[in-house]
Amino acid sequence: MRIIIEPDYEGMSKKAAQIVAERIRNKPDIVLGLATGSTPLGMYQELVRLHKEEGLDFSKVTTFNLDEYWGLSPSHPQSYHYFMWNNLFSHINIDPDRVYIPSGRVRDIKTYCQWYEDKIKQVGGIDLQILGIGRDGHIGFNEPGSSLGSRTRIKTLAPETVEDNARFFKNKDEVPRYAITMGVGTIMEAKECMLLASGKNKAEAVQKCVEGPVSSECTSSALQLHPKVIIVLDEEASQNLKRKDYYIYAERIASRLEEI
Ligand code: GLP
Repeated sequence: MRIIIEPDYEGMSKKAAQIVAERIRNKPDIVLGLATGSTPLGMYQELVRLHKEEGLDFSKVTTFNLDEYWGLSPSHPQSYHYFMWNNLFSHINIDPDRVYIPSGRVRDIKTYCQWYEDKIKQVGGIDLQILGIGRDGHIGFNEPGSSLGSRTRIKTLAPETVEDNARFFKNKDEVPRYAITMGVGTIMEAKECMLLASGKNKAEAVQKCVEGPVSSECTSSALQLHPKVIIVLDEEASQNLKRKDYYIYAERIASRLEEI
């Protein structure tokens, strides 16, 4: 795991965008796994800027989103469809035929989820999966207790997640109780993962993810078993890390290794 600690949210966002942009330049037909939530917003804004001002080209990029609330139509302002088009896709030159976001309206959920999994395989798998983290350590909507081998499926949201996400809705009762989400096993098959976290209310989850036991109680901890993971944090989100000094030191001297 590579742990990058930036002073603040802006630094975290710019660093993450820089990494995504570098991967796109190296492989223009890259397959990206994308996340929603307030955390990656700054990164998306920076990617839009890089597209508009520096010509970052998304025309051959394919994207798969992690999850979607079940029961919301794509035009619902709180749907992840709406979020992605509003905050990223409408502002870049992505081909809409290469954008995949789980549908929140399907009835034959099992068939649909299998189709989503097959689609990811058909394009050769996800090259870089972007992740946020829930307060309870979840990735996607893989709540505590989710199998670490789970695949795309419908999941009941934990009360804590409903509460956290209520800030985006008029009230708690409006928050959907289910979501379609890639599984932990699906995420783990990405060739590279990059998890972003900001703010002190994520510090405990980040510590468990990076240094805690690998456990379905904190589904992001499965990333400890992944061969290529970057964790980009701001100062506050890093405050509980026990080996923080080492991560900072290792990152500082990493550039010397690249020269060898
Ligand atoms: C939801 C999403 C996750 C996201 C998490 C944290 O549960 N399904 O993908 O990481 O919220 O969101 P935020 O970044 O707003 O704290």
